[in-house]
Parts: sequence; structure tokens; C-alpha cells
Amino acid sequence: MKLLLINIILFTNIFAIEYGQLFFQGNCITCHNIHEKKSAPSISEIRENYIRAFPKEEDFVNYLATWVLKPSKKMSIMQHSIDEFELMPELAYDEYTLKEIAKYIYKTDFSKLPQ
Ligand code: HEC
Repeated sequence: MKLLLINIILFTNIFAIEYGQLFFQGNCITCHNIHEKKSAPSISEIRENYIRAFPKEEDFVNYLATWVLKPSKKMSIMQHSIDEFELMPELAYDEYTLKEIAKYIYKTDFSKLPQ
């Protein structure tokens, strides 16, 4: 019984990470390159700014997911990016998916990833 429970927990965690990664790569990456700034800031730059502002995973995930759900200039922690690229458009994602994406961003050290 104990083993079954551990397996369920493990499986759920692995699934959650892959779910976030899948959605990030299918969608966010079209504008947010890993390292290079193109039509939007790179995801490495965004992660650095967010980790600095929210070192704890829970705060990071909540703030990022809430912001992406409804991007606003007032709540942005990267004002310079809005001046450079204009405000990010609203995407049709639910909060659950955005939190999974945010967890993936928190956990991934993009500086170690190739292009
Ligand atoms: C159509 C292009 C586009 C897509 C798709 C996109 N973004 Fe963005 N995003 C931008 C631009 C442009 C900015 C910079 C301006 C700003 O901060 O609003 C930005 C900024 C951000 C920021 C910084 C917020 C701040 O504090 O200013 C976060 C976090 C972010 N995006 C997350 C995401 C995530 C997660 C996804 C995928 C679910 C995503 N973006 C998809 C264009 C995009």
C-alpha cells in the first residue's frame, strides 16, 4: 500500500513536470526564445528577473501564472520589456496549465540548455 502511494506520487510529479514543459515548448517558445531576445525577452532573462523577485517556488509560480493569465503593465516586474516590445498579449490558458508551465520555468536552469 505504501509503495503504491509512493508510485502514485512519483508518477503524478513526473507527469506534472512534463505537462508544463510540453505546453511551454508548444506555445511560449514561439515568442520566448531560450537565450536570444527576439520579438520578446528570452525565457532565461524572464526567469532571472522572476527568481530575483520571488526566490520561493510558491511565490514565483503564483505571480507568474496570475500575470500571464492577465498581463498588465501595472503588475509587470519587467517594465523595460514593455517599453521595448509592448505588453504581452493575453493567451487562452487556464490557471492550472499556467501554474504547471510556471513550475517548469522555475525548475529549469535555461542557462545550461542549448539553443
Ligand atoms: C505572442 C508572443 C508571446 C507569447 C506566445 C508569449 N509571450 Fe510572454 N511576453 C511577450 C512579450 C512581448 C513580453 C514582454 C513585454 C511584457 O512584459 O509584457 C512578454 C513577457 C512575459 C513575461 C514577463 C512579465 C512581466 O513581469 O513583465 C512572462 C513571465 C511571460 N511573458 C511568460 C510567458 C509564458 C509563460 C508564455 C506561454 C504560456 C508566454 N509568455 C507566451 C510575448 C509573448
